[in-house]
Amino acid sequence: MAEIITMEGGNRLVGQVRVEGAKNACLPIMAAALLCEEQVVLCEIPPLEDVQTMCKVLAALGVQSKFCAADKKLRISAGQLNMNEAPAELVRQMRASFLVIGPLLARTGRARVCLPGGCAIGIRPIDLHLKGLKALGAEVLIGQGFIETTANKLQGQTVYLDFPSVGATETIMMAAALARGVTVIENAAEEPEVVDLARFINSMGGRVIGAGTETVRIYGVSKLYGCEYSVIPDRIEAGTLMVAAAITAGAITIENVIPTHLVPLIAKLRETGCHVLEEDAQVHVSRNSPICAVNLKTLPYPGFPTDLQSPMMALLTLANGRSVITETVFENRFRHVEELRRMGAQIKIEAHCAVVTGRDSLRGTILKATDLRAAAALILAGLAAKGRSQVSQVHHLDRGYWQFTEKLASLGADIRRLSLRQAADDL
Ligand code: EPZ
Repeated sequence: MAEIITMEGGNRLVGQVRVEGAKNACLPIMAAALLCEEQVVLCEIPPLEDVQTMCKVLAALGVQSKFCAADKKLRISAGQLNMNEAPAELVRQMRASFLVIGPLLARTGRARVCLPGGCAIGIRPIDLHLKGLKALGAEVLIGQGFIETTANKLQGQTVYLDFPSVGATETIMMAAALARGVTVIENAAEEPEVVDLARFINSMGGRVIGAGTETVRIYGVSKLYGCEYSVIPDRIEAGTLMVAAAITAGAITIENVIPTHLVPLIAKLRETGCHVLEEDAQVHVSRNSPICAVNLKTLPYPGFPTDLQSPMMALLTLANGRSVITETVFENRFRHVEELRRMGAQIKIEAHCAVVTGRDSLRGTILKATDLRAAAALILAGLAAKGRSQVSQVHHLDRGYWQFTEKLASLGADIRRLSLRQAADDL
């Protein structure tokens, strides 16, 4: 049922909140569970929309998964894998479903997956995924809107990635895990979620070396085994909550965090004048001085994460001075700009740069989310704006943030989710 999120801006967010397991680690790891016949038990799994969609993809392949909300454990048994075609409507609904192509090919010798297509933030090609599979000896056929790939036995090879694509690194890693010989990925993505996937494959008895560096070596094995594995905390949810503290001049302790995964954000928040205290598994963020303008450029890890570009932009619309935000990872990730302008933000787009001239305040209004991280950014802006804001299309938010409005409300935000009918009475 369509809902909106409504909020009255102005409250400082104070208190502590716990971050969930990382969506972008769960999804490839769930796909990698196809590599072994035995049951794997995944821990710290957030019951997000995208996780549920991936469970549907696995079910369509004959693989049952059972989620227990009480302990956030997801049990996947791929012994009954009896299909090698991912349902088109699910791949189109969530492009991360495409990640099943590598493990399906490695396990069954064939995979047919529809082209994931573009989305709100860019055309999202898959050429580097296919370059990797071909390098490992697979036949790749590009049909009308789908990819069909076959291989008797994949053979390890060296693959250079023209861009350190997270998804392509993960596809090649999963396909190579059961290939003959050694695969070397050069210019690999170094994101913590790639490292988590490598650790999971190694927990199943695989041999992946060097994940987290630009050169990853995968020594193929003949069989992988069941295991129990806890995914890493979600650095993007953590970063979004850190910006919530900054934009409301609050003081929040965010628990279940790996601070080293957030170095660029911590640095930038400090440059804006926030206090950030890092402890073993948590960070404390507070602000009691005006926001300083800063420049930032999104880059592959360990650079500033593109997924936190829009939340940071919301913060910088209230900074003293001019900030330049350069988006180098995706070609169309400024869809939130139009909505922020409707709140009074002063933002000029020049090619891949957004020039943000800070204002004293934003005004609450009716807003529309265009994608997952834009939804988060508009909510953060609404928390700081004068007056009431309503954000529609909140299904985008549910893809990557579990109980986000509840978490913000527990910190003192005046925020609620309403049905469209209730919303009409709300304004
Ligand atoms: C992952 O997407 C994340 N999604 C994204 O998070 C994240 O923004 C992105 O990595 C970058 O960090 C998941 O992990 C499920 P890429 P992915 O392949 O793998 C180009 C979120 O909000 N490219 O590193 O699709 C591509 O066009 C989502 O949680 C090719 O050219 O990202 C883009 O410009 C959004 N050819 C750049 O690489 C390819 O074959 C980065 O894409 C593949 C990618």
